[in-house]
Amino acid sequence: MKDSLKLKSFLEQAIQDRRLIIVSNREPYVHKKQGSEIRVEQPVGGLTSALDNVLRVIGGVWVAWGSGSADKRVVDRNNHVGVPPDKPTYTLKRVWLSSAEVDNYYHGYANHVLWPLCHIALERIYFRKKYWDDYVAANHKFAQAVSEEVKDKSMVWIHDYHLSLLPRVLRDANPSLTLAHFWHVPWPNYSVLRVSPHARELLEGMLANDLIGFQITHFAANFMDCVEQMIPEAEVDRETSTVTFHEHKTSLEAFPISVDFDRFNNMASSRHSEKFIRNFRKKLGIPDETLLAVGVDRLEYTKGLTKRIQAIELFFERYSRYRKRVTFYQVAVPTRSSEPYLSYMKGVQEIINHVNRRFGTDSWLPIIYTETKLEHRDLAAIYRAADLCIVSSIYDGMNLVAKEFISCQVDEKGVLLLSELAGAAEELEDAMIVNPYDLDSFSSSIKTALSLNRNDKKKRMHNLREKVSEFNIHVWIGCVLQRMSDIYSAKAGGTAYLFDHLEQIQSRELFLFLDFDGTLAPIASTPDKAVMPEHVKKMLNKLKKMMPIAIISGRALDDVRARVGISDLIYSGNHGMEIWNGSKMLRNEAGDVSMLGELLTKLQASLGKISGIIVENKKFSASVHFRRVPPKRLADVFRIFWDVTKNYDSFFDITEGKKVLEIRSKAAWNKGHAVEWILEKMGNEHYAVYIGDDVTDEDAFRAIQTKGASICVGKNPKADYFLKNQDEVGKFLEWLIIRGMFKALTP
Ligand code: UDP
Ligand code: G6P
Repeated sequence: MKDSLKLKSFLEQAIQDRRLIIVSNREPYVHKKQGSEIRVEQPVGGLTSALDNVLRVIGGVWVAWGSGSADKRVVDRNNHVGVPPDKPTYTLKRVWLSSAEVDNYYHGYANHVLWPLCHIALERIYFRKKYWDDYVAANHKFAQAVSEEVKDKSMVWIHDYHLSLLPRVLRDANPSLTLAHFWHVPWPNYSVLRVSPHARELLEGMLANDLIGFQITHFAANFMDCVEQMIPEAEVDRETSTVTFHEHKTSLEAFPISVDFDRFNNMASSRHSEKFIRNFRKKLGIPDETLLAVGVDRLEYTKGLTKRIQAIELFFERYSRYRKRVTFYQVAVPTRSSEPYLSYMKGVQEIINHVNRRFGTDSWLPIIYTETKLEHRDLAAIYRAADLCIVSSIYDGMNLVAKEFISCQVDEKGVLLLSELAGAAEELEDAMIVNPYDLDSFSSSIKTALSLNRNDKKKRMHNLREKVSEFNIHVWIGCVLQRMSDIYSAKAGGTAYLFDHLEQIQSRELFLFLDFDGTLAPIASTPDKAVMPEHVKKMLNKLKKMMPIAIISGRALDDVRARVGISDLIYSGNHGMEIWNGSKMLRNEAGDVSMLGELLTKLQASLGKISGIIVENKKFSASVHFRRVPPKRLADVFRIFWDVTKNYDSFFDITEGKKVLEIRSKAAWNKGHAVEWILEKMGNEHYAVYIGDDVTDEDAFRAIQTKGASICVGKNPKADYFLKNQDEVGKFLEWLIIRGMFKALTP
């Protein structure tokens, strides 16, 4: 999935013809009065940086608080304005908040309670009842604005801690709406969340979502712990990472957010970048031979700015030969103009002045500090020129600056010093990881980073760039949209519950087709553990006397025959490549699989080290199972898998099933071909009933469109009917047996 064209079409495929509504507190463009003019600004922060890029590509509506002094002037009567202002590609809908709501909901509950709570800065929590009251009121205001935008085919994607009650309000008004929520900041564990007097309400609000995205799996696990402790009646399923509450299921997944690698890479490589950096060094008096270290943040206590400056002070104290040889350039843009930010700002300024007084000379300032926001194209130039970037968060959901720096390091000469307490540290193993509280090792890491040899720096940065370029913002949005679309489809389609429509099948002559895994046998943690229950076997033994039955599986023929254990059924293995009629082989055609052995050896060599991977050679095809792979390694699995298989594009097709990637030869059959062939040879006059649960069964659903009824275990718009779970397959077989017995009694 490397090339960008593939990604764009991936996004378009994911969104299909649906309307995406993004909701966040912060808006992506702010209109401000400047004398008689109106100026447009883009606010600083990871959320708006990431999502603006997304909507620019796919369009849609973004609902957010209209915070600018001229915001009201530019909207139409639906409170809409087209953005980006120079070339509008999507609609920004503004929500108006009173100044009391801004104080109580935004500065109050969001910034004084939830922000420090999520970042485990408990001492900074300041709670007043009026904050909560206006938090509730503001969430209702957002709900009203969103409801005005919801039309047919809408999917709503909410962002962050300002709006944790919004999903519940929307769900109550519209039970079938597709709702996802991305939590950009950490989710704390139970002993921290319980500090909030409204913890249960927050959880209940969030559980109205269909999907909650977190930056890393650890935060999803914290969320499940909190639910278990605070909402005992909710059912938490760790295996599937879902919570069921009041009969509504919410999936919890990690989607580490990223940046637009190509955009930053291009900005950093531009002529502007080279020119900017020459002027920058000249203007700030940083000679070319002086090393440049940078920090780029919002002015924010969670970014560990004071810890960083203390580590820099200790660095100059311990390694005096670096004085005058390196300059730290720190950008810290204030966005929250209230306490404790104002005091924090003062503290940061004071400690910087102290370090500059202590070590500065007439010709050299150790730290150059600015609170002026820099545009991305200028930041890109600085990131490129930097020998070191320091990210020292004392806790952080992800931290986009780390990934932006990497994307701009076109010369691969800089080092990233990254706090182990930032979500980004999970992925960016080739950064130099530091504990921002351990000042001695922090300061010595600064020295080590600056003194690494050229090759080491290059190797680390090269690996980091490969990672970020692969898992860029488009992949992130694609993954989330794909999940939202699946949820949307599951809700929209397959609304016909099989047991409400048995009359369609009641009096027909049936030919029964059954998938194995997930249909006859429950999904197991590894393929070799899947077992068909004894009572299902008994029922099949009875049913085979009443109608022809074919077992259609992706497993190798011998394997599925052994697992079902009934000799005289029809079996198709390897997705239709093998067909057995109960006594002999009727079909045995794999297509060209001469390269399969070679490909599997490579996959085994590169993926085999990852725990939980199973590479299964089924001779005619192969499967790579990743159900047991720890979520944080999944990204590696996909990267390696696509990397290895891309060289075999002309030989094999790849399809994805439930936690499995299937490799089949280009000419290979699928389950649909098998069903068509079997019907034609053995039962053309029959009404086909096919039961399956996975993506590979959709070929069979399609194949019998005019010849029978397709049934999916779980909702799927591609099937005619659904069963709620695998147990219900047994119930249906039982119904078929009773139906058969009655038929025999009343011919
Ligand atoms: N940023 C910016 N100009 C600045 C400083 C920061 O555009 O002068 C942007 C930066 O490029 C990044 C975002 O602000 O995209 C900060 O995101 P991050 O995830 O690092 O932290 P957050 O502010 O979301 O906590
Ligand atoms: C973080 C939060 C965002 C927020 C941003 C800037 O990234 O996760 O929700 O928008 O900081 O903060 P601000 O309060 O200025 O919107």
